Amino acid sequence: MSLLEVDDVVVQFAGVAAVDHATFAAQSGRVTGLIGPAGAGKTTCFNVISGLQRPVTGRVRFDGRNVTRLPAHRRAGRGMGRAVQRLEAFGALSVRENVRVAVDLHRGLVGWVRPAAANVDALLERVGILSYAQERADSIPTGTARLLELARCLAGNPRLLLLDEPSSGLDEIETRALGDLLRELAAEGRGILLAEQDLDRVTGVCDDVHVLESGSVIASGAPSLVRSDPAAAESP
Ligand SMILES: Nc1ncnc2c1ncn2[C@@H]1O[C@H](COP(=O)(O)OP(=O)(O)OP(=O)(O)O)[C@@H](O)[C@H]1O
Ligand SMILES: [Mg+2]
Repeated sequence: MSLLEVDDVVVQFAGVAAVDHATFAAQSGRVTGLIGPAGAGKTTCFNVISGLQRPVTGRVRFDGRNVTRLPAHRRAGRGMGRAVQRLEAFGALSVRENVRVAVDLHRGLVGWVRPAAANVDALLERVGILSYAQERADSIPTGTARLLELARCLAGNPRLLLLDEPSSGLDEIETRALGDLLRELAAEGRGILLAEQDLDRVTGVCDDVHVLESGSVIASGAPSLVRSDPAAAESP
């Protein structure tokens, strides 16, 4: 059983399919890439998975349960963590305060948090931005803001992380460090679903990839397999 199963999901905007019968899965302990160009439907898939967008048809299963009709906050309470593409940190608060708020929000959501996840500075250190702890969130570089978003996401100690183009705005060294961190988080048993436009950027990080084009999954498999010949990769 997969940690996350997206089954035959359709989303339409004004009659046009943004997600068109998409079917894919993500496993615990693995990094799964959802790869596709701008407008392919990656963020819309994430919205369906996290509960912000109701699909026309199709199902989302998380941990063996059908969560298609579950509101977003209850999915988060069950262990889905999402880092957003358009960054939403509180600009007037410090980096540390932003993570503190995320910890408090999660505590409110599920009634408690594991002490390890409640250690704000440990979370900042884990993503490599402890030295920015006292900076205002609206004064930090974009790459740092992406890592702050990841720290906020980890505050919920999620079993599944949904990361929407987390490396955009990161330089090469930061991207490599992020890749190492994602491998570590997967090794802890978490499932990671990573939306990216460019397969080359994440090929060393992902165990499995699904290629999304015009809202449909056109290839699934190991990154090397999908890259060498999309048509030869296992069909979904
Ligand atoms: N709220 C909306 N209303 C109308 N159309 C939308 C809405 N959200 C997305 N779309 C359209 O749905 C399609 C898929 O968009 P989506 O944002 O999911 O793509 P994406 O793969 O995340 O792209 P990017 O890599 O640029 O983030 C696009 O054609 C987009 O214009
Ligand atoms: Mg997007």
